[in-house]
This record gives sequence, structure tokens and C-alpha cells, in this order.
Amino acid sequence: MKLGVFDSGIGGKAVAESLQKEFPEAEVLYVHDREHVPYGSREETEIISLTDAAIQPLLKEKCDAIVIACNTATAAAIEVLRARYPGVPFIGLEPMVKPAAALTESGVIAICATPYTLSSARYQSLKNRFAQGVKIVEPDCSNWASLIEGNALSEQQIEATVDAVCGAGADVIVLACTHYHWIKEDIIQFANGRATVIDPSEAIARRVRDLVY
Ligand code: DGL
Repeated sequence: MKLGVFDSGIGGKAVAESLQKEFPEAEVLYVHDREHVPYGSREETEIISLTDAAIQPLLKEKCDAIVIACNTATAAAIEVLRARYPGVPFIGLEPMVKPAAALTESGVIAICATPYTLSSARYQSLKNRFAQGVKIVEPDCSNWASLIEGNALSEQQIEATVDAVCGAGADVIVLACTHYHWIKEDIIQFANGRATVIDPSEAIARRVRDLVY
């Protein structure tokens, strides 16, 4: 089996590594777009054309499935890609609003994501469908992806954000950008038991299993 993984940057590396672990027999091909990362502050049309260009090598390789391991690119481009390449199974990543809403006891959840994801229609629809009656805190993470890309996001900045969302009552923190995988342990440590931190790694593997096996 050949699995393609795309992200704007190093978020997809974490997804590719975890898929390779989950499916050792698979050939996992990972592409990213170092030249244009971050995508999260770009316009929708730009994200669509950059994503389409970046996945061309995966299309050429005739992958059995292509994981758009980027919440931002999924929100902007997945429907367009499905329409353009109807024979290709695309798997997208979306903010885990539904599991977070089911998990919260305080009734407050925090969604950490890029500006584009937070402003997207897909995210609005997830909130409308699954988070009625739940308060959602959306901290400013607008420079996180590029700082993580350069390994330059400071512990102080992470701590301040985690303190702010926990202070606002959030008991679930959703990592809705694959780049944040690389600071997940810091977020857990700064939350210090005040909030559960969730990300979609297991859900992606399940989705791949359902779709391809
Ligand atoms: N890793 C991407 C995501 O999951 C965002 C990074 C970027 O802004 O390019 O949303």
C-alpha cells in the first residue's frame, strides 16, 4: 500500500511518522511546501492552488490514499481536490470539535488553530453541528506554525496561552494544526492537569484503516 501525506510543513512529518508506525508494511510518501509555509495566514484561493501544486508528486505516484495532514489545507481545499481528482481517496483533518464537546465537563473548550482554519466555513459548520451550548475559546496562535517551523516558539509563549485558556475555564484543548504536535508535551505540562489535550493522530490511522484496508 502506498500512502501519501501532505502538509505545508513539518506538521505532516509527525503524521507520516505515526502512520508509518501504524502501517509498517505501507510505503508512506510525505511532501511539504517549505517555500510557502505557513499557509494559515493566506487567502483561500492561494491555499487551494498551493495545495494542488504540492500534491502533484503524490498523484503521480498513484497513492492508495492521500492524507491532507493540514487542517488549513483541508478547510480550504479538500472539496476542490475531491472534485478535481474524483478517483483519489483524500483524507482530511478537521478540528476535533465534536470529541472535545463530548469530553468537556466545564462546558468550555479551547481550539488552537491557524487564522484561516478559525475563519473557515467548515469550522463554522463543525461548531454549529457539534458545539451548541459549549463555549469555545480561540487563542491567538497566528504565529505558532512559522515559529514551530523554525523551532523558535518559546516556552513562555506556550505557557501564557495555556494559562489564558485554562483561566477562561477550558478543560479540553484541541490541537487543530498538525504543527502543534511538536509542542504537545509542553502544552500538557503547562496545563498541569487542568485540561485534556487532544489531537487527531489516532483518528487519522482509523480513517486510513477504514478507507484503504
Ligand atoms: N499544519 C497546518 C495545519 O494543520 C498549518 C500550518 C500553516 O499555517 O501552514 O493547519
